[in-house]
Amino acid sequence: MIKLNFERDVIIMALYNMKELLDDAQRKQYGIGYFNAVNMEMVRAYISAAEEAESPIIIGTAEALLDIASFDWIVPLMIDQAKNAKVPVAIHLDHTYHFDTLMQALRAGFGSIMYDGSRETHEQNTENSKRIVDIAHAMGASVECELGSVGGLSDETGGEDITEYTNPNEAKAFIEKTGADFLAVSIGTAHGVYESTPKLDLERLGMIRETVDVPLVLHGGSGLSDEDFQGTIANGITKINVFTDIISAAADALTKNSGVSYLEGLQLAEAAMKRETLRKMTVFGSVGRA
Ligand code: 13P
Repeated sequence: MIKLNFERDVIIMALYNMKELLDDAQRKQYGIGYFNAVNMEMVRAYISAAEEAESPIIIGTAEALLDIASFDWIVPLMIDQAKNAKVPVAIHLDHTYHFDTLMQALRAGFGSIMYDGSRETHEQNTENSKRIVDIAHAMGASVECELGSVGGLSDETGGEDITEYTNPNEAKAFIEKTGADFLAVSIGTAHGVYESTPKLDLERLGMIRETVDVPLVLHGGSGLSDEDFQGTIANGITKINVFTDIISAAADALTKNSGVSYLEGLQLAEAAMKRETLRKMTVFGSVGRA
């Protein structure tokens, strides 16, 4: 007999599924921002920006951030705020490498998770991705997988930080074999602060878009120009991950206002993160799409 996890199933139904949001974005050719949160100020900045912009939004956390805020703290907060938001909010788990963490995330109520096997061999990435997709689908959740490797992430797995562009010829078979719902692509972006101006391979992106029909994800969204975003959306990107620009906006607000009290600092940081989120939503074309 199948034992349903009623609490989790009810939670997922109450929230928007990331797939539902991204399918709409793909049909209408706009981008939806994904933003990581580790505390209440971040969650509130994102959701109030989305409400003000009447934009859908995706928020979540990642394995590397769990030391700052564990699932026990951050998931109930995100779910509560998402359920009460006036706009569609999906909750997603970003870069996660370990099977146990992915299973904990599904039990905690994520309707969507990312398995990052980009530092594994192609065969191992394919095998692991399929295993995780099979389990997540059986639990009613969807999965983002990465093909190629977007560099610049601090190394949580002990593996080397590598950048390897996504091979368009491998994308179709990868999606067919794994059943992944979303594909993170490597086309010249990197996580964190760019040391030189990034040059994106839009031709490669267009070729990937032609071979697969699942929503495509751009990681390393901080530091890109408006033209970069518009070019990637025109060539098939629907989800854009941004983190460094958000935390830099908060840090800048604190630096410019050094000497303020802790409580004032929290408010200034939240306001700065909200402004940056609104800026991104405007460029991504998600304003008014809620
Ligand atoms: P940035 O920190 O470069 O914006 O990248 C965010 C990201 O891709 C998270 O998955």
